[in-house]
Amino acid sequence: MSKHIEPFDVEGVRADFPILSREVGGDISTPGAGPDDSTPLVYLDNGATSQTPERVIDAMSTYYREYNSNVHRGVHHLSQEASIAYETAHDRLAEFIGASGGREEIVFTKNTTESMNTIAYSWGLAELGPGDEIVLSEMEHHAALVTWQQIAKKTGADVKFVRIDDDGRLDMDHARELIGENTEMVSVVHVSNVLGTVNPVADLADLAHANDAYIFADGAQAAPNRPVDVEELGVDFYAFSGHKMCGPTGIGVLYGKEHLLEAIDPFLYGGMMIRKVSFEDSTWNELPWKFEAGTPLIAEGIGLAEAADYIDEIGMERIQRHELELADYAMEQLEGFDDVEVYGPPRGEDRSGVVSFNLDGVHAHDLASIMNDYAVAIRAGDHCTQPLHETLGTAASARASFYLYNTREEVDTLLEAIDSARQLFA
Ligand SMILES: Cc1ncc(COP(=O)(O)O)c(C=O)c1O
Repeated sequence: MSKHIEPFDVEGVRADFPILSREVGGDISTPGAGPDDSTPLVYLDNGATSQTPERVIDAMSTYYREYNSNVHRGVHHLSQEASIAYETAHDRLAEFIGASGGREEIVFTKNTTESMNTIAYSWGLAELGPGDEIVLSEMEHHAALVTWQQIAKKTGADVKFVRIDDDGRLDMDHARELIGENTEMVSVVHVSNVLGTVNPVADLADLAHANDAYIFADGAQAAPNRPVDVEELGVDFYAFSGHKMCGPTGIGVLYGKEHLLEAIDPFLYGGMMIRKVSFEDSTWNELPWKFEAGTPLIAEGIGLAEAADYIDEIGMERIQRHELELADYAMEQLEGFDDVEVYGPPRGEDRSGVVSFNLDGVHAHDLASIMNDYAVAIRAGDHCTQPLHETLGTAASARASFYLYNTREEVDTLLEAIDSARQLFA
């Protein structure tokens, strides 16, 4: 990133997140209880779930305190207030990712996984058959990989995987080989949750469309920390989760081009998603409600819209730069150790704030557990990418993932904890 971007006041940002002032350690049987021997929390597990600013918590609390009510169907005052807030939240999320079709293109789901399943089941089951191909990448999260794999089994379609190179980038020559006239869907992660790789989604979209295929990008690790414009990317479908972008758990977004969502049958059936029901048949509500069966995620939708406001007020480019600087700093230190292997593209490149690594002779889980003694929260395991880890030649990795409220001092604590692990296992 060469253009000058004004940094933001990280301490000011930290003050927006109540959880960041807590200490951890001691008895874990009572969540939040103040233990005796406690240490300030260093939260570096943002790739799994980010923390929630006070104003998002307040927005949801205000809904419950002041206008808790069901949406769409009530004429009473509270229901109207709730309906307006819930429906407007869709507009806000459309704006957040540059979906010019507005709320019609934004379906609220439970999370990225459900967004993926929604299209896989509704479109995939109806449209795919023997001879059809779904092209994924080797770095897909299980949310995409398992979903399309199972849909392929049900329909007789085949799944192909675009290789990654030694630096964890997509092999675009292989992508050009695989995406062809039999391809019906290209489903690719926008930013890898393990490698930090930013995939060339726009190029893949061109390739998919040149072959009359659709493209679905998994934006779980992209929407929280980089400007996303679904129309510039040229994707047909895009998915992300609220809990990774300062929003609440339990809500995700499925973006779909309006004419495609219009043409696809719903995945879940029941109340709210219908227009007319008889004993014989039913017709569907307008978009996006046709895909939101039953009472939707009202408080969560309102909270997510507030999170989008919060992020945009700080500035997505500034958040992206901050995260990248921390990742770069961490990688620089880690690359200085010859007993540490860092995965993914080299530092300095356009990558995300996810840094996955292994320390020789120490299992990632042991490493995470020693980190925990330092109150450093990182993730260890396969990060829902077992086949990718197989490709990397390891069963597990440790992953530190940074966000807008992390500091260089926290990276130093991480490094101190790694050193302590090294000594312990020497
Ligand atoms: C790249 C990627 N895709 C999908 C998911 C699934 O997100 P969720 O668990 O919110 O459905 C994750 C979560 O870690 C992810 O990192």
